[in-house]
Amino acid sequence: VTSEKPAMEVLSPSPVVLTQDELKRIAAYKAVEMVESGMVVGLGTGSTAKHAVDRIAELLHKGKLKKIIGIPTSTKTHKQALSLGIPLSDLDSHPVLDIAIDGADEIDPNLNLVKGRGGSLLREKMVEGVCKKFVVIVDESKLVKYIGGSGLAMPVEIVPFCWKFTAKRLQELFEHAGCVAKLRTSASSNGMENGGYVAKLSTFACSNGMENGGLPFVTDNGNYVVDLYFTRDIGDLKAASDAILRLAGVVEHGMFLDMATTVIVAGDRGVTIKNK
Ligand code: 5RP
Repeated sequence: VTSEKPAMEVLSPSPVVLTQDELKRIAAYKAVEMVESGMVVGLGTGSTAKHAVDRIAELLHKGKLKKIIGIPTSTKTHKQALSLGIPLSDLDSHPVLDIAIDGADEIDPNLNLVKGRGGSLLREKMVEGVCKKFVVIVDESKLVKYIGGSGLAMPVEIVPFCWKFTAKRLQELFEHAGCVAKLRTSASSNGMENGGYVAKLSTFACSNGMENGGLPFVTDNGNYVVDLYFTRDIGDLKAASDAILRLAGVVEHGMFLDMATTVIVAGDRGVTIKNK
């Protein structure tokens, strides 16, 4: 992986203005062209990745792809793939994947990502960290100058125990970047991941969990998510990653650094493919 300017290829400019969902689908279909018969494929989570899973199923049913094994990155994607008849397995049986295809919330010029606004960052990082090719599919609204630059959330999965303590420590870590840490709740979440499953509050010792007018959003792994909002650049991403992971109480964060091998961006001017 280099930090040099990524190679770039621009394909067929599109003549009409497309909706965001159409752009997501175009990026997803382009990525699925990289999937070959016999591959073990990481199946991402979110509205963009959903198009890729649909397309893989379609090609399997048409016989254009054969003997694919899918490794889903969330219960939601697991259900989708199962309902479409894609053969599935897990990391225990397939510890190395040929390719994974997933969306992202932010992409910086060095192809570092923010993921997890849908809440699946832990499983996504586990699966996408062991694939030979990690293909990220986005519409151009996801491109940022620096991580955190969209002003939207950078998610951190934490254990429920004393979540306020962990959220405060996370906020303090990034004081220099004007960080505000907020617990994700069923009210603030997009509800994408686990069908609105929320915490049983009596389980947790340090807090009643009430925040932002809703019950805590609970990940597929039974954890909470704290969303970090920045008003300034957080600086050295590797140092930020290390500092977050050193906090007891943190499970994983949504920065995917040096992981993407290919990024496919669909925009009004066509599809751009950036390779590491
Ligand atoms: C889920 C994710 C998604 O890939 C990310 O949130 C992008 O979602 P979408 O494709 O719906 O814009 O990281 O945890």
